[in-house]
Amino acid sequence: MKTITELKRMKAEGNKIVMMTAYDYPTAVFAEKSDVDILLVGDSLGMVVLGYPSTVYVTSEDMVHHGKAVRRGAKDTFLVVDLPFGTFRGSQDRILNEAIRVFQETGADALKVEGADEVLDTIQLLTKTGIPVVAHLGLLPQSASVIGGYKVQGKTADAARKLLDDAKMCEQAGACMIVVECIPHQLTAQLTKAVNIPIIGIGAGAEADGQVLVFHDLVKYGDHRLPKFAQSFSDAGVVIQDGIASYTNAVRSGAFPDTQHEFTMKEEELLTLYGGEHE
Ligand code: KIV
Repeated sequence: MKTITELKRMKAEGNKIVMMTAYDYPTAVFAEKSDVDILLVGDSLGMVVLGYPSTVYVTSEDMVHHGKAVRRGAKDTFLVVDLPFGTFRGSQDRILNEAIRVFQETGADALKVEGADEVLDTIQLLTKTGIPVVAHLGLLPQSASVIGGYKVQGKTADAARKLLDDAKMCEQAGACMIVVECIPHQLTAQLTKAVNIPIIGIGAGAEADGQVLVFHDLVKYGDHRLPKFAQSFSDAGVVIQDGIASYTNAVRSGAFPDTQHEFTMKEEELLTLYGGEHE
């Protein structure tokens, strides 16, 4: 498993960090076999797996349930789990209870929180408690309804300056890594230089220290619209749809199950059962 120190060294040496989301055991197994550096159980779970319209419906229970499955499938991959909407604000006791529970029960290596400003205290609190924190800046899906949808962030000089300051403050507060979402690539280039911790981009251009994609986008699995910044590297949806259609046809035509899929009772047992009156 890559440690935080090794991930920082990868940044320093210019080796790109590969991160992707995962929400279940088989995906985690495949990702670990493919030598992915970091797995993220993102709260995008709410949309791509659970069918909610946004991430705000995701609960800590959901994160724990899926986080545990991913950990079981990828015991040797650095695992980040999202703290969902509303769980990392409020009293210190409440934040700590939620965070410790998610961290302990999932066996995560770090927790991710969206935002800066008032979230800086949370980053500091969790880090001091011994929980490594990944910050998330730029487009914050948990705040999409406040900022008016899923829009590119940091496009003006002022907004870019604020993001640079936020990134530095997240690092000072103890964040071990920063995910930046939907920002101009030139700003990403500045950000990677401004901090010593890895900057992982999604919709943030090639200049980031690493990239993260949502699993369902990268293999094209699901009926959701692919964001402009994403690329599908396979077409799982077509393979799955074809498989289900073939199964449906085979059952209806009687081609499945075949004799190779059957279990057979011995003749003498049948005789005992039917007294020789069976076909
Ligand atoms: O929830 C998620 O999947 C994320 C990624 C978009 C980085 O936060």
